[in-house]
Amino acid sequence: MDLLKTLVLVLHLLGLLAIVGSVVIRRGVPTPALVWGARAQILTGLVLVGLAEAGDGDVNHMKIGIKLLVALAVAACAEIAAARERRGEGNPNLVHAAGALAVVNALIASLWN
Ligand code: HEM
Repeated sequence: MDLLKTLVLVLHLLGLLAIVGSVVIRRGVPTPALVWGARAQILTGLVLVGLAEAGDGDVNHMKIGIKLLVALAVAACAEIAAARERRGEGNPNLVHAAGALAVVNALIASLWN
């Protein structure tokens, strides 16, 4: 169980890296790394919660609820930016918002104990 938790946490951190890396390297462009990173955060985050609930780890539901809302906002920004890009109406603000909200979630994850 511990190994599984560690593997999912690594995927969770790679998702964060994909989002922030994409925003920093391809400024204003909604890359597949951004969109899939945002989707992966929701999936891996929910799996981490499931593993914690199944084991003896206690889960801070207020913190998780807020992280889920912020992650949904990150995914919405990324998906809308990608859809507009496909129609030739690029919107860099949405991409930057997705990156900034992902950093907010990383801060919530690490500073809220
Ligand atoms: C953009 C979205 C997200 C980002 C950037 C993010 C970032 C992080 C980071 C950096 C950590 C490691 C913190 C540490 O170990 O000190 C973490 C852990 C965690 N995240 Fe997220 N997260 C996101 C979304 C979510 C979502 C949607 C959920 C659940 C619904 C979630 C659940 C968790 C849990 C349960 C842990 C703790 C793992 C553990 O230490 O046992 N995360 N997250």
